[in-house]
Amino acid sequence: MKASAIAFSNIALVKYWGRSAEERSALNIPLNDTVSMTKYGLVDGICLQSHTTVEFSEQYDQDTAVLNSNPLRGSRIDRIRRVIDALRELAGIELKFMMQSRNDFPTMAGLASSASGFAALGLAAASALGLTMSREKLSSYVRLGSGSAARSVFGGFVYLYQGGSHETAYAEKICSCDEFDMSVAIAIIDENEKPVSSEEGHATAHSSPFNDIRIIKSQQQAEIVRKAILENDFTTVGRTAEENCKYMHAVMMTSDPPLFYWSPATLNVMKTIMKLRSAGMECYFTIDAGPNVHCLCHRSDLESVAREISGIDGVQRVVPAVAGKDAFVTDEHLF
Ligand code: PMV
Repeated sequence: MKASAIAFSNIALVKYWGRSAEERSALNIPLNDTVSMTKYGLVDGICLQSHTTVEFSEQYDQDTAVLNSNPLRGSRIDRIRRVIDALRELAGIELKFMMQSRNDFPTMAGLASSASGFAALGLAAASALGLTMSREKLSSYVRLGSGSAARSVFGGFVYLYQGGSHETAYAEKICSCDEFDMSVAIAIIDENEKPVSSEEGHATAHSSPFNDIRIIKSQQQAEIVRKAILENDFTTVGRTAEENCKYMHAVMMTSDPPLFYWSPATLNVMKTIMKLRSAGMECYFTIDAGPNVHCLCHRSDLESVAREISGIDGVQRVVPAVAGKDAFVTDEHLF
């Protein structure tokens, strides 16, 4: 009962932030529909992937999880158990597990390592337990660990329904990676773990006076972006993604306690992207929960955008990425 899987990180074009009622919080149901692009890094050794092996066995007397060689404890292993417990229950199996996982990119730095990590975890665990289910159903299970992970079950461009219940809050593919021309140059400003995790941030979103309007606007924007992707309308996707990112960061900054993920270099990259746009190159920015900036552009402009932002003071390096593929099961086990 051992299996391994690889899943790729994603960048939210329309984001979720915050959870409300208790029962929703336990089920990790987002407050609005979201849209993302699954990423595939073009730098040697940085595909933006998580590789995870899970084994269930009588030889284990407790659940164990190791990420990048570090044993996980407390709330971090509890989060993993939320996914595995639900899958164990579905399979009718009570055996303890051993999980090992490796990210080929910075962990918890606002680059969605929880998205690829929990997607790989869910796929590996379901496979080890002998469960067969649709990717949509699997996405609901991995959502229990991380909302964004539901989207990383799929490659390409993905829609996650807010849904309102465990079964209806699932992800589905809008189109595959080669059906919509969008790439991303990621300006890495800080590779370290962010001081406030998304998990903690979600819990304070409700205290911002802008929270309710962000939810209403994001729901509309998710539908606009899905339609624009299907109509191959890059401008609407980019413009809406940039607007949606600013709404989320406005909520973060006005929450109690406030949350400022940006650093001076973050703002400099945003301004450079706006300047490039005024000069005729079509690019837009979006930022998840961290200082790093994702610059969205056409594949043909990726090298130019990457070059322009790599010279900015405070940008440590730039990782160019294209749209990535579905999470998949692999025979390569980590232990
Ligand atoms: O899925 P989490 O708990 O890591 O939170 C993700 C939050 C954002 O990345 C900021 C937004 C999103 O929709 O991915």
